[in-house]
Amino acid sequence: MNAPLLTVRDLKVHFPVRGDFLGRNVQYVKAVDGIDLDIGMGESVALVGESGCGKSTLGAAILGMQKPTSGTIAFEGRAVFHGERETRIRLSRDIQTVFQDPVAALNPKMTVGDSIAEPLAIHGVGDAKSRAERVAELLALVGLHPQHAGRQPNAFSGGQRQRIVIARALALKPKLLILDEPVSALDVSIRSQILNLLLELQRQFGLSYLFISHDLSVVRHFADRVAVMYLGRLVETGPTDAIFASPVHPYTEALMSAVPLPDPIAQRKRQRIVLTGDLPSPANPPRGCAFSTRCPLVQDLCRQAPPPLVATGEGRMAACFVRAGGRDQTTDTGSRP
Ligand SMILES: Nc1ncnc2c1ncn2[C@@H]1O[C@H](COP(=O)(O)OP(=O)(O)O)[C@@H](O)[C@H]1O
Ligand SMILES: [Mg+2]
Repeated sequence: MNAPLLTVRDLKVHFPVRGDFLGRNVQYVKAVDGIDLDIGMGESVALVGESGCGKSTLGAAILGMQKPTSGTIAFEGRAVFHGERETRIRLSRDIQTVFQDPVAALNPKMTVGDSIAEPLAIHGVGDAKSRAERVAELLALVGLHPQHAGRQPNAFSGGQRQRIVIARALALKPKLLILDEPVSALDVSIRSQILNLLLELQRQFGLSYLFISHDLSVVRHFADRVAVMYLGRLVETGPTDAIFASPVHPYTEALMSAVPLPDPIAQRKRQRIVLTGDLPSPANPPRGCAFSTRCPLVQDLCRQAPPPLVATGEGRMAACFVRAGGRDQTTDTGSRP
């Protein structure tokens, strides 16, 4: 991997949830519970997992919007201290975000041009004339007409609005974009257009992406690496192709089994693994492996302590006693890497 742009170490974000009326027995929702993650320059990393597993909370912590309970985040080797004004200003130049809902992201009363120019104005970049030029350039970059700058957001479709949001995110020439479910609210027919636009922009500007998605099929042709999250922790990471070809963690395997295969014969032969039971509460996670309550391969030792994330070769890591060892080497590592 290239020199890391972003380094996250043992990051935890725990939210207190109220106990009884005297404030006793306060519990914590362990939304993010000990995550290590690197993103290299120009690299795109997909963060996938079911809704509620902590993806957005991790994204918000990286953006400086959510204070971690513990752990560290460094951007270009410099520690990110949350709540420090200087850090926030520096981060908002280098790290930008695109959320799921482009309607909520744009002020309906502002023209599209003013919305795109807003970060430039806030950071005092250029004068009115140069900002208008930059807005025209950004609109063209995302496939819209520069003449659209004077219109209100409601004149645009969902896909076009997401293009406007992307233009605004690029205004300050960031290095890293946190893309939090950027196509999940869009019609299926236009998702690939927006994904292709993001890929093209990444190539053109050498951007790094953290692409958050609950849908593994979206990330296949998009990300260099995949990080699979379950209940606040990473259970598997590795190059996208390798993970799709041979998932190690049973949770990854289950997610993968829901992704349609391009080959219809292979698709017909394949069995979909349906996970039984709900995602356990992050306020009261299982004692051992968080996935043990739903895992088809569960063994006794899985219920005793959480498995560590261990290297399984070829730049891959997995947290599974059964498939990746991690304590006493167990059986059934089979032919897997
Ligand atoms: N501000 C908050 N206060 C309390 N709990 C929160 C807060 N934000 C998120 N959570 C909880 O943290 C967990 C992870 O949420 P989130 O990061 O939004 O997951 P995802 O993006 O993967 O769907 C969920 O159980 C959610 O209810
Ligand atoms: Mg989310």
